Amino acid sequence: MITPRIKALLEYPGDETVYTVQGWVRAFRSNRFIELNDGSCQQNLQLVIDFDQHDAGLLKRITTGSALQAHGKLVTSMGKGQRVELHVSAFEVLGTADPELYPLQPKKHSLEFLRDIAHLRPRTNTFGAVFRIRHSLAFAIHKFFNERGFYYFQSPIITASDAEGAGEMFRVTTQQAPGSLEKNDFSTDFFGRAVNLTVSGQLEAELGAMGLGNVYTFGPTFRAENSNTARHLAEFWMIEPEMAFYDLHDNMQLAESLLVYLIRYILEQHPEELAFLEQRLLDEEKQKPQHERSEMRLTQKLEFCTTQAFERVSYTEAIEILKFAAAHKKKKFQFPVNEWGIDLQSEHERYLVEQHFKKPVILYNYPKAIKSFYMRQNDDGKTVAAMDILFPGIGEMVGGSQREERYEQLSTRMKELSISETELYWYLDTRKFGSCPHSGFGLGFERMVQFVTGMANIRDVIPFPRTPKNCMF
Ligand code: 4AD
Ligand code: MG
Repeated sequence: MITPRIKALLEYPGDETVYTVQGWVRAFRSNRFIELNDGSCQQNLQLVIDFDQHDAGLLKRITTGSALQAHGKLVTSMGKGQRVELHVSAFEVLGTADPELYPLQPKKHSLEFLRDIAHLRPRTNTFGAVFRIRHSLAFAIHKFFNERGFYYFQSPIITASDAEGAGEMFRVTTQQAPGSLEKNDFSTDFFGRAVNLTVSGQLEAELGAMGLGNVYTFGPTFRAENSNTARHLAEFWMIEPEMAFYDLHDNMQLAESLLVYLIRYILEQHPEELAFLEQRLLDEEKQKPQHERSEMRLTQKLEFCTTQAFERVSYTEAIEILKFAAAHKKKKFQFPVNEWGIDLQSEHERYLVEQHFKKPVILYNYPKAIKSFYMRQNDDGKTVAAMDILFPGIGEMVGGSQREERYEQLSTRMKELSISETELYWYLDTRKFGSCPHSGFGLGFERMVQFVTGMANIRDVIPFPRTPKNCMF
């Protein structure tokens, strides 16, 4: 039976109209008040049940976690905390949840504990909020690009190329015995060649942009990097727009507009979820010493990021700032900033964003030695037209660049880095036929969900996280 969802019901007048509702019991108090949640919103619907009217045995089946269908009048509530409540005349327990066995009881559970029972955590307040926001972010991404005439373009998930040239790929094979693969003989394998899960849809997105103009991908990407951090997943979702005729600065502008648009959308659409998550963070921070607590509340931080223009800083300028940083002088950086050309570590990125500029920062023109082969080489011979967007508490949120559209330069760079031109002939073809300046970037979807929800660990913003030595469900 399709019944109104609680989000809608809570807006209806309490005029004694009879409704049927369905959901899961969050709590049952005094044999009289049931907190019912159906996942449609943060708030529960209060059901009021008259225990004299119902069989005690039946009432006993109403426990935390059980699925319930109830029938009754929607009335204006006399109690505090809700505008309307449902006075139950009949109910049915659709599925029981034995309190001795059901792990989610109405008390605070740690995020670590909930990670172990990730199959049940969508039923909690915290994960309800996170996954509703995650959904809305995905929706807003499509909305943003659709409004701007971009086409959603599907890059393959199984591919033969290593887009980032970093060799962090998961092999895809149907071979049972690994022996033949070790000899690098894939002739009898399913595709007759070595293939892997994609690390990025960029190279194929570029092919799309060369005909459709502006495209974006939005799909899962996979990295077999052994990083056990609060910002890395082995399977994560990435949004990769690719735009013909955009230079690096157009690229930065688009990325900034996208990020601001997404934050504003969530501020508008999810005040209840954000209020809940903000309170959650405040409670969590109470355990911490004063100097470790955040300066801003979650919603303040989000609003702040939509009103401040992102700071644009070249890599060279950033190195100068870091060299003069007190942290550097007092040798507080674990990785010293002694020379131009070093890859920035997250401590450096965090210093720039959280201590120095105190807002999102776009770093651009990185040394070519630390960036990918496809980035456009600048005239100085040392740097490439790359840009990373760094966010407070997150670090790198976006990585992108203007692409090397000149055949000679690209082919030379590929030779220098031993990237096979035969394998990537199709990529080089775009530089042979109607090549043009173009740019794009990749936005890490989970890092964006993390920023907006304030969740500290990336494992808590994706339904089923995959990390080294962990692939449950
Ligand atoms: O900087 P990355 O590696 O860039 C690319 O893949 C380019 N091909 C993008 C492009 O220009 N089209 O990754 C882009 C973003 C990072 O900034 C980060 O937000 C996220 O993807 N990311 C990860 N997120 C979670 N877990 C990981 N292991 C991630 N690796 C990158
Ligand atoms: Mg990057």
